[in-house]
Amino acid sequence: MLVKAVSHPNLALIKYWGKRDEKLFLPYNSSLSVSLDAFFTKIELSFSSKNEDEIFLKETKKIKSILGKKKEKVVRFLDIVRKNFQKNVYFKIISFSNFPQGAGIASSASFFSALSVAINKILNLNLSQKELSILSRQGSGSSCRSICGGFVLWHKGERKDGKDSFAETLFPKDWWKDFRVITLIFSLKEKKIPSREGMRICVRTSPFFRLWPKSAEKDLKEMIEGLRKKDIEIVGKIAERNALKMHALCLSSNPPIFYFSSKTLKMIEFIKKMREKNIKVYFTLDAGESLHLLSEKKFLKKILNEISKKRFVKKIFVSKPGEGAKIL
Ligand code: PMV
Repeated sequence: MLVKAVSHPNLALIKYWGKRDEKLFLPYNSSLSVSLDAFFTKIELSFSSKNEDEIFLKETKKIKSILGKKKEKVVRFLDIVRKNFQKNVYFKIISFSNFPQGAGIASSASFFSALSVAINKILNLNLSQKELSILSRQGSGSSCRSICGGFVLWHKGERKDGKDSFAETLFPKDWWKDFRVITLIFSLKEKKIPSREGMRICVRTSPFFRLWPKSAEKDLKEMIEGLRKKDIEIVGKIAERNALKMHALCLSSNPPIFYFSSKTLKMIEFIKKMREKNIKVYFTLDAGESLHLLSEKKFLKKILNEISKKRFVKKIFVSKPGEGAKIL
């Protein structure tokens, strides 16, 4: 039996940063994201004939086997599936993504969400969207949001078992058809500190971490109102300040973590200049140097024209709000 599934990465407008439970991937704060339709990960899932899981990454011309730490992360997740659903099976996974890995776009989110819906199908589990989100969360936290389409809210939950920590669509993808995310990639090198480790360092050592959950929840409330009004100025400004607060935690931890580079900062200055020309464009950034610009369709041409002046931008992708994970 072969099952195919597809999913999109998501971009957090309000960031998830810090786990209250590292085993169950339970966050300190609720977060909110938008599904990015320009990027996708496709999964082909079957049962392995060997006595172990086999994981492959399909690139344009070749297929390579995933080993080491990356394989461990996936096997850890498959072990949870085997234990929770009492299935004594091994899997063969072939994954293909249309975007570079480790360049600041959460490939783990689209991977684990596509894998979760594929597992649901191949094992006949009949999980609801909420249950799928809870399952996917245990592969990578932010992947629980990629189960759903449009603008997605991940409820942090209160319970120790994580059964109330799940994502759901807050506004469907067609709610704000003109919303655009312009992703700028400056380098294709993998980031040095994975978000999993970065979060752990911040939780343990940043003197400001205790202020973060409350502040992020306040940003979240205002962000929801901004999205309800489809007001790019409100949404953009809150996204910027929320991302910068997350990076302030990184800078104030021990050792300090710099995810951004001089290119990121140069581009932020440039974004402010664009705003002086009445182009409504804002930014957010995750655990990498890439910047995601937030704007609307009517400003897109001008933005792309301005950015074309900057030689250090290696790749540009434009996304609309996308769908959630689904079986193909
Ligand atoms: O779920 P992870 O381990 O990929 O962490 C995601 C962390 C950020 O992308 C920086 C923020 C977020 O909410 O997606």
